[in-house]
Amino acid sequence: MKTLIVSNRLPVKIIEENNEYHFIPSEGGLATGLADVYKSGNSIWIGWPGMEIPEERQQEVIDKLQEINLYPVFLTQEEINLYYEGFSNETLWPIFHYFVTYAHYHQNYWESYQSVNQKFADVVLKIAQKGDKIWVQDYQLMLLPNILHQSLPKSTIGFFQHIPFPSYEIFRLIPWREELLNGLIGADLIGFHTHDDVRHFISTATRLLPVTSSSNVILNKERQIVIEPFPMGIDFEKFSELAKSASVKKEVDDFNINRRNNLRTILSIDRLDYSKGIVERLRAFDLLLTTNPEYLGKVTLYMVVVPSRDLVPQYAELREKIDQLVGNINAKYRHVDWNPINYFYRSFPIEVLSAFYSTADVCLVTPMRDGMNLVSKEYVATRNNNDGVLILSEMAGASKELADAIIVNPNNIGDIKDAIVQAFTMPINEQNIRMIAMRDIVQKFNVKHWVNNFMTKLNEVKEFQNSLLTN
Ligand code: G6P
Repeated sequence: MKTLIVSNRLPVKIIEENNEYHFIPSEGGLATGLADVYKSGNSIWIGWPGMEIPEERQQEVIDKLQEINLYPVFLTQEEINLYYEGFSNETLWPIFHYFVTYAHYHQNYWESYQSVNQKFADVVLKIAQKGDKIWVQDYQLMLLPNILHQSLPKSTIGFFQHIPFPSYEIFRLIPWREELLNGLIGADLIGFHTHDDVRHFISTATRLLPVTSSSNVILNKERQIVIEPFPMGIDFEKFSELAKSASVKKEVDDFNINRRNNLRTILSIDRLDYSKGIVERLRAFDLLLTTNPEYLGKVTLYMVVVPSRDLVPQYAELREKIDQLVGNINAKYRHVDWNPINYFYRSFPIEVLSAFYSTADVCLVTPMRDGMNLVSKEYVATRNNNDGVLILSEMAGASKELADAIIVNPNNIGDIKDAIVQAFTMPINEQNIRMIAMRDIVQKFNVKHWVNNFMTKLNEVKEFQNSLLTN
């Protein structure tokens, strides 16, 4: 018996150099969060390797991936455009993050989304054996649970959504809303990061589908589907130990050599995404330098933006906007030997990220909406000395657990600016008290705990369903 993890993206993606394929880690919470877990158990991960692979080279990719228990689903360029960039990231992503005016509703996006979900099902059905558990991940594959349930009615199917589930008033805007919900309720257990997501899903499903609910159970004819929150964690020990390693210490030393005495640092790390509140964060930093000139020359914002979905027009526009704002702020305040913002538009190896987390006095995480946000947890796990301050948006799922952060409304630029001042003036003993409390939570509710909880619940739900059938 094994677990099949199915997600749009595999934890590695292929890049091509000199006609050779190389595998590099994928970005984003889902891939980084689950990547270590699947290796430890008896599991296979099925997903897209990140680019179009010509038919004649597909076997080569299958063979290479099989060595690490990964199985590819190949997408054509047209499917990448319509299903991935289109329906997933121009329809569902903006709606689920409350950017309703960004959403496009195109019939050809929807048709491609349906056929690609079927394509994923065909691959799963080739690999799945009796007794296997199938764990489908995220909004790109909302139709998959029901397709699988129809073909394998006795199988055990879990679904976890890594992004928020919006309120009914927002979700109902989608032209194919019933089809999406019907797709999901093919699962036996549906998980979200927070209670609010669960609440939104249950009220949406009961208003749009002929189903009823009782507490956190949806009743669909004879079937019971359980909906629960499972706040995702990180590998705490990995981040904590990494910060103590020689390679990270060397990065930190290099970093300190280049940093002027008494320079305070603020860190911001995200994928390029309008849901992350990067523009508002820059405006808040700009406001800080205007209203609090005592910080001129004394504070630097390290801003890492990891390239993502840059073929989707809104992402390309956001990138330009960030370039412009960073340029303006730097031009307005810089001295010959000081730059207010050090901006990086690229990804970094985990050792460098760890050095960033280790040296940042303040970590500024202010998404407009975020399912969870694992960056905030990685910062906390790295702070072995219990110092440093986390400023966290109340719109991130993580704010429900990390209540000892300074919690801000990401739309309130003045509030973010005040939070930065509060962070810089926070006495060390208060930093320690807050950080210790947050570290306890991140350590205890780590990613292993998350997987175990989900899997234990999935088994219980299935056993209960089976007992109903035999009675
Ligand atoms: C978020 C989503 C993931 C997605 C990741 C990266 O974390 O929840 O499903 O994989 O972003 O986005 P991408 O479009 O590059 O896969």
